[in-house]
Amino acid sequence: MRIRKAVLPVAGLGTRFLPATKAQPKEMLPIVDKPLVQYAVEEVASSGIPMVVFVTGRGKQAIENHFDVSAELEQELAGRGKEELRRQMRSISGMLRFAYVRQQNPRGLGHAILTARDVVDEEPFAVLLSDDVIVNEPPCLKQMLKVFERYECSVIAIQRVPHQTVSSYGVIRGHLVDEPGWEKRLYRLEDMIEKPSPQEAPSNLAVIGRYILTPTIFEALSATTPGAGGEIQLTDGLRRLLAQERVYGYVFEGKRYDAGDKLGFLQATVEIALQRPDLGRAFRKYLRSLHL
Ligand code: UTP
Repeated sequence: MRIRKAVLPVAGLGTRFLPATKAQPKEMLPIVDKPLVQYAVEEVASSGIPMVVFVTGRGKQAIENHFDVSAELEQELAGRGKEELRRQMRSISGMLRFAYVRQQNPRGLGHAILTARDVVDEEPFAVLLSDDVIVNEPPCLKQMLKVFERYECSVIAIQRVPHQTVSSYGVIRGHLVDEPGWEKRLYRLEDMIEKPSPQEAPSNLAVIGRYILTPTIFEALSATTPGAGGEIQLTDGLRRLLAQERVYGYVFEGKRYDAGDKLGFLQATVEIALQRPDLGRAFRKYLRSLHL
């Protein structure tokens, strides 16, 4: 079984970034000079998955345009002798195959994934939330694919978080899989709890926005009744999936930024800028000059 498709839900309202997201998608906000969604698409490409299925919605055309060919721009850049930049723009559209499905109303992440059902069909697939920017080589998704290739089960990215912050996450209950090769990073899930208080949290292993799911999730999500705000929650669907199939959690290697949150977005911007060969030195010098 190979994973051939990655679903990127990008139909949310992005309310935490208003007014920046009033007329442009949150997923197009740039970290330095690259939109959030491009970090996720590049992770898909470098994990060897050939196709992205975007779940888009009203006002998200900028994402389709970003991954399309822009003949006028390329012509303009070529005319100005900016060949390298022209090549870079072309490579964005040539990176992968793209498909788009439309979620008419943002009725939750679970509903967004269900919207991709006809395009994904009856095969296992990946899901990436572009809010979670993860920098690592090998990429987080590629690490998870190794687990999938071994067990052919759903795999969820997890990360240890400070205990007092668990109420911002879905948290897992599970036990360590004591098999060689996983360096104590692989857990067999027993349950998941969405945003528990620190007292009720079964662990501090938080669910992060990378998933490999078997198509059984579609049945599970179809059977899930809408929760708060009429939204179909992915966590509810995953709990149903857990009752039917094995699901693993993998503590991935890499730094993750919660770019869906303002402070996380700023942290990602500063740290990624510091790592950039073209900016890092000058930016570090500037930060030092602030004498914070
Ligand atoms: P978030 O909950 O982080 O995004 O969903 P949001 O709802 O757009 O943002 P806030 O909380 O109001 O600021 C994670 C990802 O799932 C997508 C979002 O676009 C985001 O990329 N999503 C969420 C959907 O595609 N559809 C939905 O109904 C909900």
